[in-house]
Amino acid sequence: MERALRRRGRLRYRFQVRRCDGEPGGVHRNPVAHRSSDHRGVPTVIRVPVVIVGGGPSGLMVSHLLARTGIDSVVVERRARAEIYATGRAGILEAGSVRLLVDSGVSDRVLREGDRHEGIELRFGGRSHRIDFADLVGQSVWLYPQTEVFEDLANRRAADGGAVYYGASDVEVTPGDDGARVRFLDADGVEQLVHADFVVGADGSRSESRRLVPESDRDWRRHEYPFAWFGVLTQAPRSADELIYADSDHGFALISQRSETVQRMYFQCDPSERPEDWDDDRIWATLRERVKGNGFELREGPIIEKTVLPFRSAVHAPMRYGRLLLAGDSAHTVPPTGAKGLNLALHDAELLAEALAAQLAGDDRALDAYPERALERVWKAQHFSYWMTTMLHRAPGASPFENARRRGELEAVVSSRHGRAFLAEAYTGWA
Ligand code: PHB
Repeated sequence: MERALRRRGRLRYRFQVRRCDGEPGGVHRNPVAHRSSDHRGVPTVIRVPVVIVGGGPSGLMVSHLLARTGIDSVVVERRARAEIYATGRAGILEAGSVRLLVDSGVSDRVLREGDRHEGIELRFGGRSHRIDFADLVGQSVWLYPQTEVFEDLANRRAADGGAVYYGASDVEVTPGDDGARVRFLDADGVEQLVHADFVVGADGSRSESRRLVPESDRDWRRHEYPFAWFGVLTQAPRSADELIYADSDHGFALISQRSETVQRMYFQCDPSERPEDWDDDRIWATLRERVKGNGFELREGPIIEKTVLPFRSAVHAPMRYGRLLLAGDSAHTVPPTGAKGLNLALHDAELLAEALAAQLAGDDRALDAYPERALERVWKAQHFSYWMTTMLHRAPGASPFENARRRGELEAVVSSRHGRAFLAEAYTGWA
């Protein structure tokens, strides 16, 4: 229809300056087509090669990497920018994710403000065992929360004039044989219509985009766990300089950090727990019990945030369905134990941007290879996250045999250089 209108000279392209995210610096230039006056009342049509549904790290990274190769995109995100920033998420970046952020010009803030970690501790039987990444595999990770990665990407897109519509509503995606259409109301309630060659579904674990793949063509591989994490933010000094993953007779706990004065901690709980049923004393008693031993002192303070995080492993196939391409959590979910979710999302984004650029440059087969390349790492990360999770958590009702076997597994890992190196290589990201 649009092509026909353009042939008849009723559509023309122009560059338009428009505010799109309600933020300072949210002005961007993007190529749009608009209809002539005999079509007043019909929404403006924005034409771009790629439209991206979802403005979290994977969507913004695809948009950023495409822009670096001169390809325009429009990002449509349902949440307001401030809401995304306020959602606390995990904080470990693999070495390759840091390289991608720095080398692609998103920001080098991670190197200045992130904390480089050269190891973690596995703690069980009241004793800690260090996994020395630097010694074992010559790599490290950075503690740099996902919210900061989002902020860096959002700032970079805004500074580069990227079209990012936060706070969009009534988003309707129609991938067709000859292109994709996305219709939505922007944050001001104005209807927008984007026509693109491809649509990227990067709209997170509750993805609407993946539902565009007909049920009969979907392959959804899932694993549920009989526990969850209770996560807290606390105003307390650091208890340790590195992350501690602890197994105890009472269940799992993780001691992580955010800054000198704010710490992040988690403990295994039943998925039905409600944060409001836990006061500070009960939380600290639970955490203390799970990390005690060998003189370790947990440093406590007021708890400023409490959440229960569900656990799930899932992979959605296909990651490509015609002109629809899925990336990040919309295509796969991992439990947080291996800290792989954000890293996989950034890795997908890198592969997808490369494949889209090649396809748009005329390589007809470039996108065919994307799912296979992405899924190779996704399944490695699925295995690693599942392994760390099952090795470190006590399933409710587990037999004495099973709990003793898990201890044997932990011993086998920490007492062998090969075992530690396997963990180190996966945790830092298969460089
Ligand atoms: C965090 O700091 O939030 C964090 C770190 C490591 C994990 C999960 C969460 O495995």
